[in-house]
Amino acid sequence: MTTLDIEAGASATAPPESGLRIALAGKGGAGKTTISATLSRLLARRGHPVLVIDGDSNPNVAVALGVSQADAAAIPPLPLGLVSRRLDGPALKDPVTSIVERFGATAPDGVSVVHMAMPAHADEGCLCSSHATVSAILADTGRTRESVTLLDLEASPENFSRGTTRHVDALLFVVEPYYRSLETARRMGVLAAELELDRVWVVANKLRSPGDIEAIDEFFGNHNLHVAAYVPWGDSVLDADKEGTPLLDFEPDGPVVAAIAGLADRLVDAQG
Ligand SMILES: Nc1ncnc2c1ncn2[C@@H]1O[C@H](COP(=O)(O)OP(=O)(O)O)[C@@H](O)[C@H]1O
Ligand SMILES: [Mg+2]
Repeated sequence: MTTLDIEAGASATAPPESGLRIALAGKGGAGKTTISATLSRLLARRGHPVLVIDGDSNPNVAVALGVSQADAAAIPPLPLGLVSRRLDGPALKDPVTSIVERFGATAPDGVSVVHMAMPAHADEGCLCSSHATVSAILADTGRTRESVTLLDLEASPENFSRGTTRHVDALLFVVEPYYRSLETARRMGVLAAELELDRVWVVANKLRSPGDIEAIDEFFGNHNLHVAAYVPWGDSVLDADKEGTPLLDFEPDGPVVAAIAGLADRLVDAQG
């Protein structure tokens, strides 16, 4: 059984768009997967049913959540054919619960995780259908109050051109304090603006000095992007990675987890 209780095409009496859907984007190595895994388990501990979608075609969020390597390797990519095309966009043929039960795994704290896609062959072609599936899952999970769906994206901005994130309530750009990382977020911010999302926030990660914070504030102040969290550099994050232990289990009371917990507060408060 999964902790999610989500029906495809929920009835008209369901509160509209009330689940919290979060996508994390940004340059490779910025910390999207680390923050996705930690944030989702913290939200699950607060009682939210949480579904994590690994949107990276080289998936690794399951292991970061604490799923064993063997179990994570056994998570299949979501198959093609889960959606039907409608005039108002792709829609799931089956309830999200059934998709998660068939194709997902359960991580610590009851977090469910599914893999968006993983090319099985070298010249398999594009992943358009996978983007449509994720978009349809997000459209549905938004209808279930208290649920949280978190999409850990890959570095490519392709998801913006495909509108994969059009249904998210909060798009987070994870950045490191150096120009190319900041500039990646700025460019993605221009694309994201066309999706007219409620919240497009920056999460500044790997901060080592007050100068890092100043530089980030100045850059995003000039580009009208709100910095919602400041996450410090932590040697423990790398140590946890080396050991293959989730950060939340490795150093639950450290400053990195505390900053991510603050981000969880802000996301939940902003959702109302
Ligand atoms: N706050 C941090 N302090 C130190 N290292 C970090 C921090 N956040 C992430 N890392 C490290 O950065 C690397 C990339 O992180 P990852 O979450 O895989 O990034 P992404 O998913 O954006 O590619 C990993 O080795 C991770 O341990
Ligand atoms: Mg990643």
